[in-house]
Amino acid sequence: MAKPKKHIFVCTHERPAGDMRGSCKKAGGARVLDALRGELFNRDLMPDIKATKSGCLGGCESGTIVVVYPDNVWYHQVQVEDIEDIVEDHIIDGDVVERLLMPMGD
Ligand code: FES
Repeated sequence: MAKPKKHIFVCTHERPAGDMRGSCKKAGGARVLDALRGELFNRDLMPDIKATKSGCLGGCESGTIVVVYPDNVWYHQVQVEDIEDIVEDHIIDGDVVERLLMPMGD
């Protein structure tokens, strides 16, 4: 297996009904992951760009959380409709999608 140039993690973690933190599963994480894989496939970016589902990444209240490595860029509140911008702007053009950046300390 070749080492990917970028690895994108999409949280699909599920929590019990009623959990106050919410979850990326509830926010549509599985659909976001499917859309991302479809976009990467359609643009012939696999396997250089790899997309993998992840467990909880700690941003449960603002899922779906998507993290791009080695860039260490964290996106939050990602919807299926945002995937084209992430792939086109960030992955292909190298421009971070500012409106989706997760507020975090350094
Ligand atoms: S459930 Fe996705 S970050 Fe916690």
